[in-house]
Amino acid sequence: MKKGSAIASSNIAFVKYWGKRDTALNLPAAGSLSMTLSGLTTHTTVSFDRAPGDDELTLNGVRVGQGGLSKARAVLDAVRRVSDGGAGATVVSVNNFPTGAGLASSAAGLAALATAAADAASLSIDSATLSRWARLGSGSACRSIVSGFAVWNAGVAADGSDSFATQLVPPEHWPLRMLVAVVDERPKTEPSTAGMQRTAASSPYFGAWLNTVPADLHQASEAIVGRDFEKLADVAERSCLAMHAAMLTSQPSLLYFRPQTLMLLEELYQLRREGHPLFFTIDAGPNVKVVVPPGVDRSVESRLVELPYVRRLLRTSPGVGSHTTPIHLF
Ligand code: PMV
Repeated sequence: MKKGSAIASSNIAFVKYWGKRDTALNLPAAGSLSMTLSGLTTHTTVSFDRAPGDDELTLNGVRVGQGGLSKARAVLDAVRRVSDGGAGATVVSVNNFPTGAGLASSAAGLAALATAAADAASLSIDSATLSRWARLGSGSACRSIVSGFAVWNAGVAADGSDSFATQLVPPEHWPLRMLVAVVDERPKTEPSTAGMQRTAASSPYFGAWLNTVPADLHQASEAIVGRDFEKLADVAERSCLAMHAAMLTSQPSLLYFRPQTLMLLEELYQLRREGHPLFFTIDAGPNVKVVVPPGVDRSVESRLVELPYVRRLLRTSPGVGSHTTPIHLF
């Protein structure tokens, strides 16, 4: 049986996704927009070599339990449905960055899985289909199929056929720099699906949050196409904070920030007052992603490195979408 292998990168949203219109198919309640990140990758190999129903997934050398396995199975089943193969899969994945700490490791993982599984099944399929398959495992993974800047259209179809990511512009269009300030490497306390359900069910601001998305998508797309840093900064921080406002007002409250998260925001506001162009975004975790314009100015980076509560600073920029790799890489 043929093996398949792929690499995919993480992605970070500038217009966030938080809320589903269909939980089983990971159909979003609104669209979102992201940047695929260079260098923060998952490498995955897949072989359909096990008994039917007996999938096995190893992540960073550790066997993954039912929770993670069921996400992978949603993707593998989609591939099995079109390849008329019923065999169980052996999946081996390795992340080169912290798992589950708001760095979208599941996005990279499920995008790599969809691409590697299609390769293992000798299917040659288009990017929209791969994006739909990745989405079945983790919503945001559909954006990691795409290089550069990606827009995930929410779609309206009940079967999700029109809910996948497409490219807005390629990575070389705007080589922004992103500094991922890791202040806490522990896995997040509340998984995103449960968190989204809780927000939708209990936050009085959930509807208001969703209403912000169409105008924010429009502004962010224009900012990226026009390489307008101030305009992107404005919309990205607003989208992030509106999402966190809805999270915070869920019952019980979803608080993903740590004290270090807020100390870092104070530092960023100070840097901005000193004239350094930058903006931040934060996902369902405590770590802060800081975006600076392309170029050689490293002063923001040097200030962040010096902060005692920044445990690691990862440097990234727009990267390529998922792609197959030769097996001998593993
Ligand atoms: O795709 P999920 O279920 O891991 O959800 C991702 C949610 C956020 O990272 C908080 C926002 C986003 O758009 O990536």
